Amino acid sequence: MRRRGIGKRIGWVLFTLVICLEAEVIKPLPDTVEVDAQKAALGKALFHDTILSKDNTVSCMTCHDLAKGGDDGMKYSFGIHGQQGGINAPTVYNAVFNFRQFWDGRATDLKEQALDPITNPVEMGETLPHVIQKLKASPKYNERFNRLYTDGVTADNLADAIATYEKTLITPNSPFDRYLKGDKNAIFPEAKEGYRLFKLKGCIICHNGMNVGGNLYNRFGIYTDANSTQLGRYNLTGRESDKFVFKVPSLRNVALTAPYMHDGRFDTLYDAVKWMSQYQLGRYITDREIRQIEAFLRSLTGKMVK
Ligand code: HEC
Ligand code: HEC
Repeated sequence: MRRRGIGKRIGWVLFTLVICLEAEVIKPLPDTVEVDAQKAALGKALFHDTILSKDNTVSCMTCHDLAKGGDDGMKYSFGIHGQQGGINAPTVYNAVFNFRQFWDGRATDLKEQALDPITNPVEMGETLPHVIQKLKASPKYNERFNRLYTDGVTADNLADAIATYEKTLITPNSPFDRYLKGDKNAIFPEAKEGYRLFKLKGCIICHNGMNVGGNLYNRFGIYTDANSTQLGRYNLTGRESDKFVFKVPSLRNVALTAPYMHDGRFDTLYDAVKWMSQYQLGRYITDREIRQIEAFLRSLTGKMVK
């Protein structure tokens, strides 16, 4: 009962906030993001290169495949030596628009995030001194870093190049964005009805803004216990009220990024929508309504930049 009370309070505080900030409006993504093109090109090469991993077998692409929606389609990803991680890999597409990075928000931005997978023992398993040594020894990289950064290959510059590239990984012009911009026939009537339900039922309270999510934290399992074994933000803050609190994920391109939730518990978008309604809103939702919301969510798939 206590849990339910806390959840309700969080819900109402957020609801009021959202109304105050008028953040419930979903905004279209910009067509481009301004970056230094040469640094982005260097970041692109690094993102695709296994040189960043200990045994040169894993690249960022291994778990964030840009041809597959920017994730790997697995419940939990595999890093070096076939080791499996313990949390679902989110997409890197549009990550630049998230207010924080990682499910528990422990990185403030893309640059702060970028070195974490390199040194994570179950992902790329490298050390920063060693990866810098490898990059300096590579004529291809050493020369490029020296040309673009006065201090050449450093951990900070490595993170900067990768983050600069990631800023370009956006997916503008989804049917829904075209609809928002005035093309009323850009989405099917079923998707329009789904959008109406998405607002009416309250999904919009948490999934709003440019990324349809990615701009606040919330508890996973407010009305119905989600039986999460992971503690989310509690691991960072130690506050009881932060148990099972995660970053609300962006729903852009969500049709391409199954399985769903931080633990990949649902294989289908249908189940994700059905259970969100129960966990987060405590509402029964009909089969037809689920299909309509699903149609709306499918209209959020944009143009992938590769
Ligand atoms: C072995 C798989 C694996 C590799 C390799 C990997 N990642 Fe990830 N990535 C993940 C997982 C899993 C998470 C979620 C971790 C968490 O939230 O605690 C994640 C999270 C992220 C996020 C945060 C997205 C968000 O919405 O919160 C970004 C950005 C990202 N990775 C970029 C990269 C970059 C850049 C590289 C290469 C330097 C990389 N990843 C390598 C699995 C991987
Ligand atoms: C009170 C906040 C809140 C509300 C309301 C809410 N969600 Fe969510 N949603 C979340 C959080 C938090 C997560 C991440 C859960 C986790 O894995 O820890 C999430 C995850 C999801 C996911 C999975 C995304 C992914 O990439 O794994 C989908 C799909 C989704 N929500 C759709 C909906 C729909 C549809 C509704 C309305 C029926 C809704 N949500 C209502 C907070 C909310």
